[in-house]
Amino acid sequence: MPLSPLRLAVFASGGGSNLGALLDAIAAGSVDACVAVVVTDRPGIGAIDRATAAGVDVQTVAPGDFASEADLAAALLAVLEAAAVDLVVLAGYLKRIPQAVVEAYDGRIVNVHPALLPDFGGAGMYGRRVHEAVLASGARESGCTVHLVDADYDRGPILAQVRVPVMDGDTPERLAARVLAEEHRLLPAVVATFAREREP
Ligand code: GRF
Repeated sequence: MPLSPLRLAVFASGGGSNLGALLDAIAAGSVDACVAVVVTDRPGIGAIDRATAAGVDVQTVAPGDFASEADLAAALLAVLEAAAVDLVVLAGYLKRIPQAVVEAYDGRIVNVHPALLPDFGGAGMYGRRVHEAVLASGARESGCTVHLVDADYDRGPILAQVRVPVMDGDTPERLAARVLAEEHRLLPAVVATFAREREP
């Protein structure tokens, strides 16, 4: 009896290009998964438009709307349980995942980060700041990382990385684009591995 597709929740805070890459890979048949729900921490972002265009349910769960982390965790868990999610994918999501959610989905939350962790990660290291720091360091290469998520930013076990060169004259924008292109390949590949390695 073939397994049903791996059910994903994709969390996003921005444009959603990683969500788009995942949806494209699923449509192309290279990832045995489906995006059951997109969770955002704010309204009005590109990821919501991409999800809506793909007919995917969107749940906006804004941390500032909750009186406590426990209330936020309960709201997130309710969304994940209602969608019968197997794997949580943080794709351009900027908020910390509450410990109660990390525990409930232990080993089943992955994040993509636009640098070679453990370098250039942690609180506040996101977007352009990451690439500025890489260039300022004089590093001759950068890349992206997919890792398991724990309650700290960018700290869980690394699952996969892809390296890209830093080119002479690189700006943060040029480096970001080179890294993002690899993110769009690496994240679907890691999700495909999760789908393949499930017990029948
Ligand atoms: C990407 O660099 C991703 O690694 C980081 O957020 C950036 C934008 O992602 N977490 P997206 O275009 O919103 O998917």
